[in-house]
Amino acid sequence: MANEPTRVVVSSDHAAIPLRQAIAAHLAAKGYAVTDIGPTTPESTHYPLHGKAAAERVASGECHLGIIVCGTGQGIMMAANKVKGIRCGVCSDTFSARMIRQHNDANMLALGARVVGEGLALEIVDAFLGASFEGGRHATRVDMIEAP
Ligand code: RB5
Repeated sequence: MANEPTRVVVSSDHAAIPLRQAIAAHLAAKGYAVTDIGPTTPESTHYPLHGKAAAERVASGECHLGIIVCGTGQGIMMAANKVKGIRCGVCSDTFSARMIRQHNDANMLALGARVVGEGLALEIVDAFLGASFEGGRHATRVDMIEAP
């Protein structure tokens, strides 16, 4: 359907709950269909579980894109990238967030809640979601990433 909202899954570990919730609220206010898969309670948990769970929602097609957050963004990104079909990058700046969509066809964005403040994080999210894959020579390269 032409007007179907982009479906975005958001997830985090315990280190990033407030930022994840701020991102979810920001996206909902902008009209995205947000699936927030938690966690909601602050107990220490394991970022690989949450990166994988979000990645599976994207890989299955249930969600178009994913945004995942842990302390640095690095561990949860590594876990997400283990799921076939996922291309996730950690970004701490808006230029990279735009470029991983335009050139790498990234379908997930990782952020570090201990690295970027909320204001910058939301700008990074907007840069990621506002960009589109350019295809062409970049498609050849993305296909090489996906090749077995
Ligand atoms: C949790 O303390 C921390 O290790 C985690 O949030 C993340 O930064 C791992 O990459």
